[in-house]
Amino acid sequence: MPVGVERSADGGLAVRVRVPSKINLHLGVGALRPDGYHDLTTVYHAIGLYDEVTATGAEPGAGRRDGSGDGGPAVTVDGEGAGELPLDGGNLAVRAVRALAAATGRDPRVRLHLRKRIPVAGGLAGGSADAAAALVACDTLWGTGLTRAELGELAAGLGSDVPFLLYGGTATGTGRGERIAPLPAGPAPWHWVVAVADGGLSTPAVYAELDRLRSAGLAAPPPTAGVPGGLVSALAGDDPAALAAALHNDLEPAALSLRPALRATLDAGRAAGALAGIVSGSGPTCVFLAADAGAARDVAAALTASGAGGAVCRRAYPVTGPVARAEVY
Ligand code: C5P
Repeated sequence: MPVGVERSADGGLAVRVRVPSKINLHLGVGALRPDGYHDLTTVYHAIGLYDEVTATGAEPGAGRRDGSGDGGPAVTVDGEGAGELPLDGGNLAVRAVRALAAATGRDPRVRLHLRKRIPVAGGLAGGSADAAAALVACDTLWGTGLTRAELGELAAGLGSDVPFLLYGGTATGTGRGERIAPLPAGPAPWHWVVAVADGGLSTPAVYAELDRLRSAGLAAPPPTAGVPGGLVSALAGDDPAALAAALHNDLEPAALSLRPALRATLDAGRAAGALAGIVSGSGPTCVFLAADAGAARDVAAALTASGAGGAVCRRAYPVTGPVARAEVY
């Protein structure tokens, strides 16, 4: 049996998928659309802070059925956010299994186990990552053999960030973020520090705060340009200072407005030697770019130490990026 596919205690098959989290190296937020979303110009980057999703069920080809319906999957969670996450249809991974089952005529009553390290509501797309992983796991479990582009269409219906986790690496995202175009990998692994905050931030609330700040003239208006050329050329090179200078997040003022304490986190990372720090997506996680692996370890250690009282962050991890997409593991 391939790596990541095992026989479960009750004789079924268990497929384990590892999925990265994402940061946005550039996040340009357009005006509010009539459908409640904002047009985005973003550069996604997959980093090595992973969740693992295991789907357990019957043999490939078994459980075929006509039509769709309710019921399943059953979900268990351990690690980050266990006890906080919904285990019903409010869980994006559950909705992913149901969507794939409905599209392929399978029985969604599998067991899903989420082993989480990606913080919940942290701006790292943890829920989206679990949904992408659930799609890949069930596609393997059921032998449905969809391409990533086909899975991506289902993923786009689940959430704006879900398709990217099916591609990994570094990629541009347009539309509401669901239209993915991979960027070529440069020579560098980049060294990041992920500073996880206590508690989450609501993504819709952060977007709404940006709209409020913009209408009050307190945040820059929607951008008119696409992905800055400086970022693309920095990614093709190996100079972390050039990449540091190109990082940008339109949602940062909104996240800082809702969570002013993040300013201290950003300051602490820079004071500890990071080349740059930004709020990740809608926050409250902050990410820092370091010059090399040693500097990343130092920044993470300094942030974790200064965060012991909870003032700066809960925990900081050194990670690299870009890393590979959601894959059976
Ligand atoms: O796509 P997803 O369900 O993850 O989005 C969650 C919320 O974030 C949306 O309901 C919307 O309020 C906000 N959002 C947005 N524009 C985007 C993506 C998300 O306004 N491009």
